[in-house]
Amino acid sequence: MAHTIWNRKDLLGLEGLSRPEVEAILDAAVSFKKSPPEPKLQDRALAFLFSEPSTRTRSAFETAALRLGAKTLGFSATTSSLAKGETLVDTVKNLEALGVSYIVARQEASGALDAVAPKTGVSILNAGDGLHEHPTQALLDLFTLREKKGRLDGLRVVFVGDALHSRVARSNLIGLKTMGARVTFCGPRSLAPDAFARLGAKIERDMDAAIEGADAIYCLRLQLERQKDHFFASLADYRAAYGLTERRLALAPEAVVMHGGPLNRGVEIDDGPADGPQSAILSMVENGVYVRMAAFSLIEDWRKSRGLG
Ligand code: CP
Repeated sequence: MAHTIWNRKDLLGLEGLSRPEVEAILDAAVSFKKSPPEPKLQDRALAFLFSEPSTRTRSAFETAALRLGAKTLGFSATTSSLAKGETLVDTVKNLEALGVSYIVARQEASGALDAVAPKTGVSILNAGDGLHEHPTQALLDLFTLREKKGRLDGLRVVFVGDALHSRVARSNLIGLKTMGARVTFCGPRSLAPDAFARLGAKIERDMDAAIEGADAIYCLRLQLERQKDHFFASLADYRAAYGLTERRLALAPEAVVMHGGPLNRGVEIDDGPADGPQSAILSMVENGVYVRMAAFSLIEDWRKSRGLG
């Protein structure tokens, strides 16, 4: 059974996950999409620890937890004693003392959750940490791509835009390489530096050349605050070089169009590609619920096997 290969308390990143572990999550997500779940988490309490805004990730995690019967605490990091300087680890230990089994956390500091997880019995699921990882986003991306294309092995996936500041791109690169796909990063040197080649990505500066015949085009959100940091000249220049337009999409008629959201329409992606028949953007959001149910389910099996509540 897929579940027996999972031997982890937490889901902190895709780095270090084996191909069978990734497959276990994707396969469990397929089962959850096919049939209604048992309330596996009905005795469990879950808290959200988000220090950054979120629409999709937080809502999908909450939907997944509720479908599995968990109780979610009305805890808000921004109005908690974190704001008075309490440390993250003390906050987590206090939530554990209150009977919380799961924490879904989004933190500004890269790697903050890796430091906390070994110090607690609570299972921590990373919902995005700084520039580091966003594992469940990458897993739902893999799930959606596999669903649309029937496989991941050998697919050519092109990420366009700001890879430098993107935890989504980083987790996807790791996950896609693990699953045998080929990854290209396309963008200006300032946002898609050559150094990414050392992590296994092909680097391409010209967008038309990069996306021609691709299996998937993943538009990365342009973090607009980067303009004042002079990572690119102007939004108009950026769109001209790296925006996914109808004309450009015609170069890749079989490509799945992907974007993790939120979208800057008219910047990295136009309405036609975002809303057209090749777009998987809203399927990704829906699939995010099944993937998070799968992550909870595998971790819950691990907890039960160790007699943890
Ligand atoms: N994809 C993603 O992380 O979206 P949110 O920031 O809305 O959670």
